[in-house]
Amino acid sequence: MAGVTLTDVVKVYEGGVRVVDRMNLAITDREFVVLVGPSGCGKSTTLRMIAGLEEITSGTIQIGERVVNDVPPKDRDIAMVFQSYALYPHMTVFENMAFALKLRKMSKTTIDEKVRHAAKILVIEHLLDRKPKALSGGQRQRVALGRAIVRDPKCFLFDEPLSNLDAKLRVEMRAEIKQLHMRLNATTVYVTHDQEEAMTLGDRVVVMRDGIMQQFGGALEIYHHPKNRFVAGFLGSPPMNFFEGTIVEKEARLWFDEGSGRLPVPDWAREQLLDHVGRKAVLGVRPEAIADKQHARFECSDNSLAFKVTLVQPLGDKMDVYLATDHHSRIVAHVDAYGGVAAGQTVAMYVDLARVHFFDAGDNGERIATNRNRDQNGLPI
Ligand SMILES: Nc1ncnc2c1ncn2[C@@H]1O[C@H](COP(=O)(O)OP(=O)(O)OP(=O)(O)O)[C@@H](O)[C@H]1O
Ligand SMILES: [Mg+2]
Repeated sequence: MAGVTLTDVVKVYEGGVRVVDRMNLAITDREFVVLVGPSGCGKSTTLRMIAGLEEITSGTIQIGERVVNDVPPKDRDIAMVFQSYALYPHMTVFENMAFALKLRKMSKTTIDEKVRHAAKILVIEHLLDRKPKALSGGQRQRVALGRAIVRDPKCFLFDEPLSNLDAKLRVEMRAEIKQLHMRLNATTVYVTHDQEEAMTLGDRVVVMRDGIMQQFGGALEIYHHPKNRFVAGFLGSPPMNFFEGTIVEKEARLWFDEGSGRLPVPDWAREQLLDHVGRKAVLGVRPEAIADKQHARFECSDNSLAFKVTLVQPLGDKMDVYLATDHHSRIVAHVDAYGGVAAGQTVAMYVDLARVHFFDAGDNGERIATNRNRDQNGLPI
């Protein structure tokens, strides 16, 4: 087993585009790290550089103690699982899983043992004699995992392995991959553009944008304490709401002036925001931290704004209420379902001031205040 360390790793493709920029990442032994970010941000390129399938322009990559910059992929002791399973169609499941071991000239008995062991872990023992075309998508995915497992690698690399599966199966396989990791305990680097997959799978998560790492940390740490507006908006569904406004001082206290209404700056943020009085700032609040007075599970006093309801989306026991002020449309509140709310109404909605975030103005503003009086689950401490 081994950790994976990237030091100042840069990738410039022909034509001069810098698709990965000074990536520094220390993945520890046995850790499950997820690289997440929008399409084209450099996730696959990073993974392929770790695998040795793509040369690095500068920097170093270490697997365990060894610098592998010049080590060919087959000698890196890694196993990669891609989005397309690329099973050999003319071979049985057994032969597909045994293939890499045969190439390594292992004995028949060893191969048999390893394949059957992996098949047992993946619950595909009954499929060993079938050809891939006689398998479902989820079963094919398991075979692809099996091919990686039999090789007993130091490190598993996954590039969107579940994106070909339908939504339900994806959620099931996600749980299986996590359990597999708990059982095999091998260092794993997993690429996805799906923020929910990243949150549920990763011990730690790397959020990337345009080739640059934005934040690296525990999934809940990133969710509750995003370092900038991009990260804040990327994790969570529906995404965090952002109000663009100004920090003002009135009546001997600080307020966030939204344009048509204002919210008091909570005590925990006061010191951090004193330097920002008179300046533009962005207040971020997740849909689950906005509610009407009856259903709010937080204190309601002067922390409300007047909204027009634009749409109500029922979700069963919850609902998403779409809201707008004169200055901000597309604000969403995710609340327990209740009756009597409909598009066109004007309502007062309260904002949980323990769960707001402040960022510098602009689309990619840095964080200027986050509430550290909460633990990593967002609960008060
Ligand atoms: N061989 C190549 N030559 C030039 N540019 C490339 C090459 N491969 C990838 N790119 C560019 O590098 C950038 C990063 O690509 P990469 O495949 O790493 O993105 P990604 O984050 O995996 O995206 P996705 O979620 O769509 O898979 C993209 O802008 C892509 O167009
Ligand atoms: Mg990719």
